[in-house]
Amino acid sequence: MAIPLRRCFRPESPCQHSMKKRPFILDCDTGTDDAIAIVAALGCEEMELVGITCVNGNVPEEDVARNNRNLLAYLGRNIPVCRGAWLPFSANRRTGAGAGVHGSTGLGTVELPEAKSCPFEERIAAQFIYEEAKKRNGELELLVTGPMTNIAIAIIEHPDFCDYIRHLYFMGGAAAGGNVNNTEEFNIWVDPEAVHIVLSSPIPCTMVGLDVTNLAIMTREDEERIRSLNTKEAVFVADLIRYMSSREKILLARMHDPLALASALFPECLETKTCFVDTECRGTYTRGHTAADLRNRRNREPNTEVAVNVNVELFKDWLIEKIACAGRKGGQG
Ligand code: RIB
Ligand code: CA
Repeated sequence: MAIPLRRCFRPESPCQHSMKKRPFILDCDTGTDDAIAIVAALGCEEMELVGITCVNGNVPEEDVARNNRNLLAYLGRNIPVCRGAWLPFSANRRTGAGAGVHGSTGLGTVELPEAKSCPFEERIAAQFIYEEAKKRNGELELLVTGPMTNIAIAIIEHPDFCDYIRHLYFMGGAAAGGNVNNTEEFNIWVDPEAVHIVLSSPIPCTMVGLDVTNLAIMTREDEERIRSLNTKEAVFVADLIRYMSSREKILLARMHDPLALASALFPECLETKTCFVDTECRGTYTRGHTAADLRNRRNREPNTEVAVNVNVELFKDWLIEKIACAGRKGGQG
């Protein structure tokens, strides 16, 4: 069922908002689309970006960490970047398994200056997320756009961790389909055991899977619309979209991770269904599959909001507005 198109998407007023900000930590495997989600997050006035935590995924964790640190330094943002898990729980997965899609650096052919004077946060990801969550006494929300290894470590290491997480939004899985093969999506495929630990926890989750993210494709026109904003943030994003669109024909500029950001901050562009979801951790041909019981046939307690439809134009207008806002705020910390 298509979401009724709202009459128009009115870009918010130019980024002067006085509102209670929602604290978020973004756990990512940057990656081209992760980087675009980070830029858009920097333009979300309603978000307090507490920190960015790094995980092995698209490229090895050390390259993810370098990308995140270089990006924030390039954009003049003073936001903590934490090192994280370099291997999944199930160590039978190669590290940096997504380089074929995101290029050897993780940012395709787009280059960033090497950040010299920005040390990584001393605490590693799981400890940082736990301590910041406790500090915010249950208000912290998580946006996870890579494998869930860091989150699972935090759950295992801290029995009260889940008490302090308000909500977890994640890009991953699919009710139907896959991109590693026809049943497995990459973020889940890298570490299905970690996802099982998270989905078995009491943390409220929203799953933004390929069912909707495969539809969120940026066109050449979108790229030019962004490039014409002519800010560091916008040109960086436009260059990434140009790279993503120039790869082999099946690899389009899909906004997987930015749509997960939208599920948290602009849910109006998505239609969701509450149901039971778990990952297949065994299975010769289906390990890493997300079994989303959309018709609630398994009589299992629903544990996840699953995105089942997207208003693509509404989402893209919102995303471009956030990139514009990030540019207007550029370097304000
Ligand atoms: O399958 C798409 C997901 O895997 C995205 O998050 C992309 O960045 C990779 O992590
Ligand atoms: Ca990602």
